[in-house]
Amino acid sequence: MTNGMHATLTAAPADRNGALRSQLQSLYAPVADELAEVEEILRRELQSRYPFVNELVQHGFRLGGKRLRPALLLLAARACGRVTPDHLLLAAVIEMIHTATLVHDDVLDEASLRRHVETVNARFDNEASVLLGDYLFSHAFYLASTLGSTFACQQIGRSTNIVCQGELLQVAGRGNYGLTEAEYLQIIDGKTAELCACSCRLGARYADADRETERALRRYGRRLGIAFQIVDDLLDLLGEEHQAGKSLGTDLQKQKPTLPLIRLLQLSNDAQRADIDAILRLSGAERHATLLPLLNRYEAIDYARSRAAEFARRARRELETLPPSPAREILESLTQFVLMRQH
Ligand code: IPE
Ligand code: IPE
Ligand code: MG
Ligand code: MG
Repeated sequence: MTNGMHATLTAAPADRNGALRSQLQSLYAPVADELAEVEEILRRELQSRYPFVNELVQHGFRLGGKRLRPALLLLAARACGRVTPDHLLLAAVIEMIHTATLVHDDVLDEASLRRHVETVNARFDNEASVLLGDYLFSHAFYLASTLGSTFACQQIGRSTNIVCQGELLQVAGRGNYGLTEAEYLQIIDGKTAELCACSCRLGARYADADRETERALRRYGRRLGIAFQIVDDLLDLLGEEHQAGKSLGTDLQKQKPTLPLIRLLQLSNDAQRADIDAILRLSGAERHATLLPLLNRYEAIDYARSRAAEFARRARRELETLPPSPAREILESLTQFVLMRQH
């Protein structure tokens, strides 16, 4: 392991997204020390004696990542009781799985920017990306299997499977502009909300929470995750790449219908739908410039925002039975953070 690797996993690229860093620092304050330990586990676990593997891992794990899922796991644990060494290991496992899905997702989306740097597929190639994703998935499961109980391994296995299923459903639905809102929600429930739900559940379970609390935190994670992805899809349409730190516009490029477009199509008659179909066949910038006023006119953007806000509100309500604590307050604040984020 080189010092360079250590720096990559622990130092903040303050010049690029300093504002986000300081926002996250205050949001994650109650578990800051534990998150630093998670970074150390990631560094330790993913070192390889092969320099090329180290280089790839360093690249994939850039700190441009928000570390939301590890934070959820640790905050859920803290809200229920104590953070233990098992939680730290599980938080690292979840971040490995998440990063693996991103590395693969960037191949699917042919994206060139991630966490403010070139994607692995752009910097190296698709072959390296597929293998790095596999390396991260397999190490995550190996690590989870070292725990005394098999519960986490089972849950993470199941959840990762559901994430892949969500991505597969999305691939199957590509170009299907008849996708309903319910079908869209099913896709994002799988590809994004499932891992957030799993993180919260594991945090609670390994803090010996009672089953009712564990279920409430799991529901919190699911609803938060759905709000998070609706907002992500809005960012894909409306955000700035230099702020988001990742390639945007790939949803339309890859013919993935997301909530604003689904809403617009739902409000349209046959003739209008034919016009929208023609707009969708335009190329990049023209398509974007023609579609956006239409989405605004039909209040389809506002509609998606209000749906996200509704899921965030429902997430927050799940926390009501928890005893008051700084960790609970942060989990509540995260329901606002996911709505406001530009990253
Ligand atoms: C990106 O997740 C993939 C989605 C589910 C939208 P994040 O936005 O949490 O990505 P990082 O970890 O911060 O890079
Ligand atoms: C992918 O969704 C979510 C995953 C499960 C990887 P997106 O394709 O919208 O994620 P980003 O926008 O590339 O981060
Ligand atoms: Mg993507
Ligand atoms: Mg996206």
